[in-house]
Amino acid sequence: MSETVTIPDALVTALRDAHHICVLTGAGISAESGVPTFRDAQEGLWSDYDPMQLATPEGFASDPKLVGDWYRWRREQVATVDPNPAHLGLAAMQELVTRLTLVTQNVDGLHQRAGSRGVIEFHGNIFVDRCFVENCVIETPIPGDIPRCPSCGAPVRPGVVWFGEAIPEDALNLSFVAASQCDVFMSIGTSSLIYPAAGLVDLARDNGAITVEINPDPTRQGFEFVLENKAGTAIPKLVNSLSA
Ligand code: OAD
Repeated sequence: MSETVTIPDALVTALRDAHHICVLTGAGISAESGVPTFRDAQEGLWSDYDPMQLATPEGFASDPKLVGDWYRWRREQVATVDPNPAHLGLAAMQELVTRLTLVTQNVDGLHQRAGSRGVIEFHGNIFVDRCFVENCVIETPIPGDIPRCPSCGAPVRPGVVWFGEAIPEDALNLSFVAASQCDVFMSIGTSSLIYPAAGLVDLARDNGAITVEINPDPTRQGFEFVLENKAGTAIPKLVNSLSA
């Protein structure tokens, strides 16, 4: 049964009239590409794996091979999938509106592959390797069960943000500025549970922005517009309405 999507005229007008749109995406926007989310019942990653063991610096320090293997598995999984109509739709929307800043919590690089420009990676990128001690980017792939930094010998870690770690400063600052200056803030495919990303909508709302949520299981956090739909269905429909 095809999903019905209702795009309110007032939402299209708000997007058309906006000087600056800020979009925050989460794992849900990549779900239709086949990338598992974290908290969706059953197939969410955190229902099968312990985040504290696999997504913390402590977990990596205690077992760099286990954590390294898990991220290499996720990296291989993501490398085989493609951007879906939601990613492609956001890239198209960026060309239709005055200004769109895209902040993503995802580390899969699918927004960039879909053509979105200036993507702010709030939680880093799974395809980047860094030294666990110096945090410098390791450009060349290092072989071995526990790849080690060529300059200091520390284990190599994925360039993603783990629980308890700081958001990269430039990503944090750019996102805060965009959220506090935008006229419309769109939250797409996120459970809005992880801060500081989940606090961006509050910044936007406090500055008078219109807020929009696209999620088949809405978080009910006071968004003015809620499209209770999959992103892959709602975003192309939104783009069609904007182009009409
Ligand atoms: P979650 O797994 O917490 O939430 C995914 C959201 O996407 C849920 O609200 C789903 O209802 C929604 N969703 C599922 N399918 C969808 C679809 N087709 N279209 C639109 N929405 C859909 O993932 P995030 O909110 O991204 O951080 O999680 C935030 C952070 O917690 C992640 O960046 C990661 C995780 O732990 C770290 O690892 C530091």
